[in-house]
Amino acid sequence: MDRQAVTIAIDGPVAAGKGTLARRLAARYGYAYLDTGSLYRAVGAKVLRQGGDPDDAAVAAGAARSLTDRDLAAPDLRSEAVGLAASKVAAIPEVRAALLDYQRRFAAQPPDGKPGAVLDGRDIGTVVCPAAPVKLFVTASDEIRARRRHRELLDRGENASFEQVLADLRRRDAQDSARNTAPLKPAPDAHLLDTSNLDIEAAVAAAVDIVAATLKP
Ligand code: CDP
Repeated sequence: MDRQAVTIAIDGPVAAGKGTLARRLAARYGYAYLDTGSLYRAVGAKVLRQGGDPDDAAVAAGAARSLTDRDLAAPDLRSEAVGLAASKVAAIPEVRAALLDYQRRFAAQPPDGKPGAVLDGRDIGTVVCPAAPVKLFVTASDEIRARRRHRELLDRGENASFEQVLADLRRRDAQDSARNTAPLKPAPDAHLLDTSNLDIEAAVAAAVDIVAATLKP
């Protein structure tokens, strides 16, 4: 008999380190990993490519419903401009509805027969997988998150000032927290993990401790 797949849900604001933690936990437990932000980024990028307005519900929902593997591999997905467009399309209920089944299916039946999945995003613990046995809400101070994201952009050759990155991050967090549909917020049963004073190894160790304590037979 198939055992039910285990879900680890990781949510948090911009550049809190969710992706790194999720990837590391997935590798450690042999689980599949889904970066749900890349779905919203792909929708935002597609709308921008079509010359559309990311606030236009019909256009954004059309892009979400017709998402292809090629859209998900677009080279500009991690840019700041696409991040802001993603945050706009993510506030549109029809866009979120179009992406929901895929995420739930990934969690319930992880690819390659893996026994579990790690999903990171904004609403994994609250909306996508509210029954997930492990939920982490990862945070860090605005300045520290902006510093991490700024370094990431410079490493990739994108030209951005620290002040601009900090302003974009605050704007996106405000948009993500204020929207009516699936706003950014910790699930009541989420474990809070503040990584402001933790390097990657320490953050991974803290997350592993939480997972181990929660999944203890
Ligand atoms: O990596 P970063 O923290 O910059 O953001 P991301 O995870 O790539 O997500 C990009 C945007 O998609 C977010 O600002 C949210 O507006 C949206 N998003 C969402 O609404 N729900 C999710 N589950 C994941 C992302």
